[in-house]
Amino acid sequence: MQLLEDRIARDGVVKSGNVLKVDSFLNHQIDIDLLDALGAEWARLFQDKPITKILTIEASGIGIACMAALHFDVPVVFAKKTQSLNLDGEMLCTKIDSFTHKKTFDVIVAKRFISPDDHILIIDDFLANGCALRGLIELVGQAGAVVEGLGVAVEKGFQGGGDDLRARGYRVESLAIIESMDAESGAICFRTA
Ligand code: G4P
Ligand code: NA
Ligand code: NA
Repeated sequence: MQLLEDRIARDGVVKSGNVLKVDSFLNHQIDIDLLDALGAEWARLFQDKPITKILTIEASGIGIACMAALHFDVPVVFAKKTQSLNLDGEMLCTKIDSFTHKKTFDVIVAKRFISPDDHILIIDDFLANGCALRGLIELVGQAGAVVEGLGVAVEKGFQGGGDDLRARGYRVESLAIIESMDAESGAICFRTA
């Protein structure tokens, strides 16, 4: 999506360790007109799918998912991260390893918020190794619901998580895919379709 690529090229900052900072429009300060446009694009791309709910993960997925949900007219559920898990049988739960944060989180969603007749669109801000999205897919599977697709704002293509999910048959619509980036020069190359 040209709008997002242009914004990343203009305002994104490449940090060492393959981290892209997008704090001025996505992850700290939020440009809601941009988020609105991302939501409209996912609504167009997934218009053939009977989406009943959007699933994301706290924290930074929530704003993007909410703006997208306005275009689908469906509720948003966000998975919660916790480090002390109280299993009471009412929760769907899985573990997510975060390479960025060097931690493993237990991630939970209350069972009553995803039912077997739901058709879920999973949304997140970043796709790197894909651990977060694989965890969300696992939760939807536990609920017996259908994953209709995944909508990602920024995919770091060189980390392989997106292509792994595509190879496993999931429809992944990333609105910008970074093929390479260089902290020293600040250069960012996008994948072309
Ligand atoms: P993965 O889920 O794709 O395997 O990636 P990873 O574990 O590395 O990601 C951990 C967190 O860092 C995720 O946020 C992810 O969205 C974010 N992230 C990954 N790469 C980048 C990057 O280059 N730039 C930025 N800004 N974020 C990145 P999260 O778990 O949702 O945490 P939160 O920050 O939303 O609380
Ligand atoms: Na994040
Ligand atoms: Na995220």
